[in-house]
Amino acid sequence: MILVRHAVSADLPYLAEIAKTSATAAHWTSDEYAKLFAPEMVQERVTLVIEQNGTVAGFIVARPLEEEWEIENIAVTGSARRRGLGSHLLGEFLDLARNRGGTQVFLEVRESNHAARALYEKWAFIECGRRGSYYQEPAEDAVILRFSFPQGCIKLG
Ligand SMILES: CC(C)(COP(=O)(O)OP(=O)(O)OC[C@H]1O[C@@H](n2cnc3c(N)ncnc32)[C@H](O)[C@@H]1OP(=O)(O)O)[C@@H](O)C(=O)NCCC(=O)NCCS
Repeated sequence: MILVRHAVSADLPYLAEIAKTSATAAHWTSDEYAKLFAPEMVQERVTLVIEQNGTVAGFIVARPLEEEWEIENIAVTGSARRRGLGSHLLGEFLDLARNRGGTQVFLEVRESNHAARALYEKWAFIECGRRGSYYQEPAEDAVILRFSFPQGCIKLG
């Protein structure tokens, strides 16, 4: 059974474990993961986890900036990839962002991260910019991607 829910601090060990198998995810320290659950951060960020048969198998972290959202991190544990979990999680996050009035979602991804770029392309994210040598170890450009929620029809006349 697949379930997407808001993360709680008890999920921290799972997030850390998933991050360990995800070299191409955002490189966050355990303190940075822990801060996601600090009271002031809970207001500023959304962290969702995806469970498969009761086990946390992936997570996504995002923050709203007015009507725009930024996906800061997303990962699915190594052994559970290519089974649709990342896509399911991203879809649930996009529903949440739209329901909260979001109009666009942005993110940065390593140029060589073909798996993640293919996932975003599947969801119709489009390239809208680049940041030269944005990443370290190894140094690499970031590709900036944007997802736009379809706007409603405009009544003419
Ligand atoms: C990116 C990531 C979250 C995708 O999770 P996932 O559960 O494996 O993705 P899904 O199984 O839902 O795949 C959805 C689509 O993404 C694309 N995709 C995913 N992994 C792929 C791969 N290794 N190669 C090519 N395409 C891939 C495919 O289009 C796939 O659809 P398909 O299976 O119908 O072909 C996962 O690879 C991951 O955790 N990577 C490490 C962390 C990371 O790089 N995060 C992104 C930071 S920007």
